[in-house]
Amino acid sequence: MSLLMFLLGLVTGAIALHIDEFNVYNYGASGSGEIDDSHAFVNAWRDACKVRTQYARVIVPEGTFLLNPLMFSGPCNPQNIHFKVLGTIISTGSPKSWNGRDPSQWIAFKDVTGLNVYGSGVVDGQGMGWWDQSCRDHPKLEGCTKLAPTIIKFISCKEGTLSNINIVNSPQTHVLIFYSKGFNVDNVTIQSPERSPNTDGIHIHSSQFVNITNSIIGTGDDCISIGDYTSNMDIANIECGPGHGISIGSLGKNKEVAMVENIRVHDSTLKGTTNGARIKTWQGGQGNIRHVTFENIVFDAVNNPIIIDQNYCDVRGTCKEEKTGVKINDVVYENLNGTSSSEIAINLNCSKFVHCSGIIMENITLVSIQEGNPVTANCTNAEGTEVGVNPGSCFKK
Ligand SMILES: *[C@@H]1O[C@H](CO)[C@@H](O)[C@H](O)[C@H]1NC(C)=O
Ligand SMILES: *[C@@H]1O[C@H](CO)[C@@H](O)[C@H](O)[C@H]1NC(C)=O
Ligand SMILES: *[C@@H]1O[C@H](CO)[C@@H](O)[C@H](O)[C@H]1NC(C)=O
Ligand SMILES: *[C@@H]1O[C@H](CO)[C@@H](O)[C@H](O)[C@H]1NC(C)=O
Ligand SMILES: *[C@@H]1O[C@H](CO)[C@@H](O)[C@H](O)[C@H]1NC(C)=O
Ligand SMILES: *[C@@H]1O[C@H](CO)[C@@H](O)[C@H](O)[C@H]1NC(C)=O
Repeated sequence: MSLLMFLLGLVTGAIALHIDEFNVYNYGASGSGEIDDSHAFVNAWRDACKVRTQYARVIVPEGTFLLNPLMFSGPCNPQNIHFKVLGTIISTGSPKSWNGRDPSQWIAFKDVTGLNVYGSGVVDGQGMGWWDQSCRDHPKLEGCTKLAPTIIKFISCKEGTLSNINIVNSPQTHVLIFYSKGFNVDNVTIQSPERSPNTDGIHIHSSQFVNITNSIIGTGDDCISIGDYTSNMDIANIECGPGHGISIGSLGKNKEVAMVENIRVHDSTLKGTTNGARIKTWQGGQGNIRHVTFENIVFDAVNNPIIIDQNYCDVRGTCKEEKTGVKINDVVYENLNGTSSSEIAINLNCSKFVHCSGIIMENITLVSIQEGNPVTANCTNAEGTEVGVNPGSCFKK
């Protein structure tokens, strides 16, 4: 009996371990960085996606692979597809080569369940060409760019992972996860210069059960930004900076209905960022942001360590006062410490019409980056409780 079990184990083990591999070199990739290798990638993916085994693995070995915009689509037959990047993947770096194509996209995975993208390699968006003509920095330039490619999009990907990989120099957002459920990002590094425009590290929207852990993110915009219809996220062990911090929002633009809940950000460090733990909404929106926790976070020279801006406006003073707003409720700030580079270390700037409520602050110690300078807490239209908050009371008594 036990022998039978043993043999059965061997057989099922062998089946379970069988992985079909699809090496892009076997599909004609040059790996030179000079010739377009897109076809090899498309064909390797096509075969991996349709193979009749449980596991398939696309392999991108050492080498430099130049890719034009590509979509790796599912659904696929294997229950798991690995996409292993050991080499370097680069874009053309030329906005012109996107003429006639979706300007928002470079590499995308769509409708793939059980996708694991990983490897010690680098995905380099070569964003300089876009930064140099961005409307943000060159508003008067004719044909300036508002929308530039995201390095990797995961669209409708269930139970996926992105891990152990390096993603650099995006024309705009580095990683975008949307309409996805159950997705883990772990041990990635994301890097672009501090001055690069709109280069969010990871943006998530319309997704549930997404975790981001053990990662180093430094860009010209939010390290992590959480968009609408997102819930049940766990973000931990992130080193963020430079950048704009970890943000929920902006939500509620153009009177939209927002819904973001059950977000936990913890055990992380923000260094030299413009914001730390941030929530921002436009006036006039509706819906809720609720059950959000920021816990065990260290701020190092952060301009606005703790901030809620419910009166967000991209160009200050150009937005009308509106009588509705996205409701912000049950936000916990616990065990946060470090240095602020502005005077208002805690700034809850909530709507006069839809107050922030259920705010809990406990064990917060923030001091000025310039020793001896005071820092303050300014909570407007916000209600909650506080214990051990330095720079002093935030809620009016
Ligand atoms: C993180 O990823 C790098 C490759 O980018 C790898 O060398 C390292 O072992 C990974 N760390 C862990 C804990 O998996
Ligand atoms: C995300 O993290 C939470 C909390 O650690 C965990 O319960 C959950 O299983 C994780 N989700 C996935 C998809 O691994
Ligand atoms: C709060 O928001 C309003 C409207 O944008 C702005 O005028 C004001 O300066 C903000 N207050 C603080 C303390 O940031
Ligand atoms: C801030 O918190 C970290 C982690 O909990 C701790 O190691 C550090 O000593 C604290 N620093 C200050 C100034 O309280
Ligand atoms: C706040 O800090 C005190 C003293 O370090 C600690 O005993 C308490 O557990 C902390 N509170 C929370 C909610 O972690
Ligand atoms: C606090 O914020 C309110 C609203 O933005 C503003 O009117 C007030 O001047 C601020 N107070 C301080 C001390 O900065």
